[in-house]
Amino acid sequence: QTRSRIRLCSADDVDFDSAIRVESGDLVLAVFNVNGTFYVTDDACTHGPGSLSEGYIDGHTIECDFHNGAFDLRTGEVVAPPCMVPVRTYKVVVENDDVMIEV
Ligand code: FES
Repeated sequence: QTRSRIRLCSADDVDFDSAIRVESGDLVLAVFNVNGTFYVTDDACTHGPGSLSEGYIDGHTIECDFHNGAFDLRTGEVVAPPCMVPVRTYKVVVENDDVMIEV
């Protein structure tokens, strides 16, 4: 099975320890820069209407600003309730300042 890459943004578009929301086709994603390492998840919180790109980054944790549930950016696993369902994460490739995911 071949994997294809989708370019989401430039590395420069995302400040250190912040996130942006990127739409690509049917995907609505949050792109995080954690101290120079990029992570990509679905932007939608699995618990409700929260947008994870609007949340609070604390190390590798993203806390939803809606009900303060939280996920591990590396795995998507829930680290704080009321979230119950992991958030989808994507494999990130950064090349020549392009932030891409493999799908
Ligand atoms: Fe994110 Fe409820 S919508 S914690």
